[in-house]
Amino acid sequence: MNIKTTLLAGVVALAPVAGFAADLTIGFSQIGSESGWRAAETTVTKQQAEERGIDLKFADAQQKQENQIKAIRSFIAQGVDGILIAPVVATGWDEVLEEAKDADIPVVLLDRTVDAPEDLYLTAVTSDLVHEGNVAGQWLVDEVAGADCRIVELQGTTGSSPAIDRKTGFEQAIKGHDNLEIVRSQTGDFTRSQGKVVMESFLKAEGGANICALYAHNDDMAVGAIQAIKEAGLKPGTDIKIVSIDAVPDAHLALANGEMNATIELTPNMAGPALDAMEAYLADGTMPAKWIQTESKLYTAKDDNQAVYEMKKDLGY
Ligand code: AHR
Repeated sequence: MNIKTTLLAGVVALAPVAGFAADLTIGFSQIGSESGWRAAETTVTKQQAEERGIDLKFADAQQKQENQIKAIRSFIAQGVDGILIAPVVATGWDEVLEEAKDADIPVVLLDRTVDAPEDLYLTAVTSDLVHEGNVAGQWLVDEVAGADCRIVELQGTTGSSPAIDRKTGFEQAIKGHDNLEIVRSQTGDFTRSQGKVVMESFLKAEGGANICALYAHNDDMAVGAIQAIKEAGLKPGTDIKIVSIDAVPDAHLALANGEMNATIELTPNMAGPALDAMEAYLADGTMPAKWIQTESKLYTAKDDNQAVYEMKKDLGY
């Protein structure tokens, strides 16, 4: 299988269920546009809806849960057929999900999980977020091969399921490896700008030479941190090893240039399986699995990252 076929495989497996979509109206409460990955997910969701003839009502919450709750209530008042939610944080959803349930409107969660009873939503389309952190941690364990390594961590948005789970997974992987230690850990809110600012503070507090590796919960923060590392006169990817999550085009470019060492892919196509499940449920009541898991693939410098970068750009990332 060549690179393009491999990358498209996940998408092909998520091909739409033909014929069910006519005249559906679906509300989509998106978190915002904090990262390149998020922008790609928005693009893919709109494409998926258009291909299926779905009228997609899109609401950008600008990172605020209160805006998401308002949007969901507005979708309910409009009588939409279904609702997609990418939940910014994990808690505080029960009441509004109850309201959707009372109105018989199925809800599908995209890319993040919530701490709410499972009967309040139809299904959740997400990666295994703990596993992603685990893969990142295991990669670093193997990479340093027993050498001492002081790690700094850029966490995602506080209270979001990927920030919680990616931290947990990474810590599980390095547990018992006394040569590895997380010496600083702070949120960079999944943004490039905060990734840079927080990395600058890590470099100042620790001294660049005392940091062996950066674990960032997403690529955008890692890319911001790369800038900070360069401005501190160090070589990202060499002086400080960098592992992160998403595999957006800029991360492949950084890998190709030797400025990043590893990233774990998160498909932006959550909407494909989400709309498949929604359409089947609305057509004949088919109940999907409670969790539709997307793939997590590790990319390192050994891959042809220049080719993957170009291919992903072509796909409209
Ligand atoms: O929930 C998925 C995460 O949200 C992505 O990894 C990150 O880039 C985004 O902001």
